[in-house]
Amino acid sequence: MVKIAVLGYGTVGSGVVEVIRTNQKVIGERVGEELSVKYVLDLRDFPGDPVQDVITHDFEDIVNDEEVKIVVEVMGGIEPAYTFVKRCLLAGKSVATSNKALVAAHGSELIRIAKEQEVNFLFEASVGGGIPILRPLHSSLTGDVIEEIIGILNGTTNYMMTKMFYEGADYDEVLKEAQANGYAERNPEADVEGHDACRKIAILSSVISGKQVDFEDIYCEGITKITVQDMQYAKAMGKTIKLLATCKRDGDSISAMVSPCLLSADHPLFSVNGVFNAIFVRGNMLGDAMFYGSGAGKLPTASAVVGDIVEAAKNLNRNLGNGWIGEKLELEKKDNVEHQFFVRMKGDREALQESLAQSFGDLAYVEVPGIEGEFGFVTEVMSEGLFEQKAAAYEKDMIAMIRVEG
Ligand code: HSE
Repeated sequence: MVKIAVLGYGTVGSGVVEVIRTNQKVIGERVGEELSVKYVLDLRDFPGDPVQDVITHDFEDIVNDEEVKIVVEVMGGIEPAYTFVKRCLLAGKSVATSNKALVAAHGSELIRIAKEQEVNFLFEASVGGGIPILRPLHSSLTGDVIEEIIGILNGTTNYMMTKMFYEGADYDEVLKEAQANGYAERNPEADVEGHDACRKIAILSSVISGKQVDFEDIYCEGITKITVQDMQYAKAMGKTIKLLATCKRDGDSISAMVSPCLLSADHPLFSVNGVFNAIFVRGNMLGDAMFYGSGAGKLPTASAVVGDIVEAAKNLNRNLGNGWIGEKLELEKKDNVEHQFFVRMKGDREALQESLAQSFGDLAYVEVPGIEGEFGFVTEVMSEGLFEQKAAAYEKDMIAMIRVEG
């Protein structure tokens, strides 16, 4: 019997216990022996709940119990999760976590300690919730160089963008609806400002580069400035707007970014709607693949955590060599990253056409019936640095800029 402990009996923690109970037989067959939850750490008691018998309020019970081989960290936040996880690894226990903040901030160190201790630090659920993506990248796509990852990695903002696109609802209205449905937090900053997606793309970038990518180095722009009019322009161009987290390889350099982007109807991510997440991956041999599913929620996230528990249980005392080394990856400077840019500009198109062409190249213009006194255009492919330099001359007339993906 493999004994495990669960740190935190919130949404994901209770999901982990439920998945293990519900699928006990098949999980046991896959591991080769039964999994048993010996402790659940929480500040609260749960009278009447089957876990009440195994609740402890003292982390020392867990870290000092040699019978516990695998610890599940689903508390969230950095502390005390970081201290607890580190101590468990140093005590020779494998750890599975869903905590993207912890992995993005301390992943390298925890991966290194796990390796030194011949145990495992696994974090599939930290990116894309229930969608298997880290293990496929690490264990299946090993014959490929991954050239590009484009992710819809935040369900809350994807729900909001979908509502704005299909129902013409405005930002404040959809945010309230997302909060009422329990998708967005009362303080929705981490979702709408892109911070959640940024931590997830930092983890994916680290996995595909094999080096530490710091989320603080990634340019991150949220969806707070996206308007109903922007969506109308997108529709007029046969596109939609999504919050995309990207990581791209160009020769030896790797760039990463989080920002709202215009996406064409023929892109596989176009039809990823509502709270669903998806990760589009391009390998140099594989070509294109897409991983799609529930990026959050109790049972989908718990399913990914339990997948890690099974992996750890099958590999007790053997480090799987997942993750990345601690050496920091210097990302390509944002100024050098190239795309097309969509711009909304005040004024008369005829009068500005010549000057705009000189600045931004051969332009594709777009006008939306009913939106007066302005026009839109899409630039040629150009670098962020050059765009900013050229755009400075039009600053007072530029209403919006949205990057174009693909
Ligand atoms: N707030 C996140 C989302 C939850 O909306 O996707 C999963 O990390």
